[in-house]
Amino acid sequence: MATTMQTQGVASAYDRWAPIYDLVFGPVFKRGRSLAIEAADRIGGRVLEVGVGTGISLPQYSKRCRLFGIDISDGILEKARERAKRLPNVEAIEVMDAEALRFEANSFDSVVAQYVVTAVPNPEAALDEFARVLRPGGEIIITTRIGAGEGFRGAIEKLLMPVTSRLGFRTEFPFQRYADWERANGSVRLVERRALPPLGHFELLRYRKH
Ligand SMILES: C[S@@+](CC[C@H](N)C(=O)[O-])C[C@H]1O[C@@H](n2cnc3c(N)ncnc32)[C@H](O)[C@@H]1O
Repeated sequence: MATTMQTQGVASAYDRWAPIYDLVFGPVFKRGRSLAIEAADRIGGRVLEVGVGTGISLPQYSKRCRLFGIDISDGILEKARERAKRLPNVEAIEVMDAEALRFEANSFDSVVAQYVVTAVPNPEAALDEFARVLRPGGEIIITTRIGAGEGFRGAIEKLLMPVTSRLGFRTEFPFQRYADWERANGSVRLVERRALPPLGHFELLRYRKH
């Protein structure tokens, strides 16, 4: 069974998740979302929310933030568009690929990607795009699954990959991938790394652009 992820396959997977997404993934990621949004609120200004999904986070941002939400799944964005109608601080909601952002360099004060990086077929390409569209001094704020990398848990994560990649996410994703990307990209520095519930299998990462 193939474990490589394709953008169209991920989009279709989230089209299917759309009707039940908030029910399944609403409570479990609540704490991580709150911490990510607090970090963006501290900066304020123009926020790009990548993989905005159903827009579950949008009402939580303070009105200091002007929000641009993008996602690869048009189906899941229907809910985000509904939510945005009641939120004057949402600038736009658009279908867009995280790996090919249609924005000028230095366009945003922060780029927020909640539970998205491991769902994208080429995570390093998306991370490069986040750094490009961020202004110097701004932050990339990520909540993400961090896999064990090795040992028994790592072996289970590898075994699950053919199944979970078809559902639109990876179980296997060691922190080393982020560390290697930071070194290769060279324009950002990790300023916070914090374990998140459930069970510390997820983390909040904040990168500041030089
Ligand atoms: C696990 S959901 C997270 C949704 C939301 N951020 C949250 O906190 O619940 C992952 C989201 O990333 C989106 N996504 C996956 N690949 C993408 C890509 N290449 N570009 C933009 N969005 C993508 C999916 O469509 C989905 O809405």
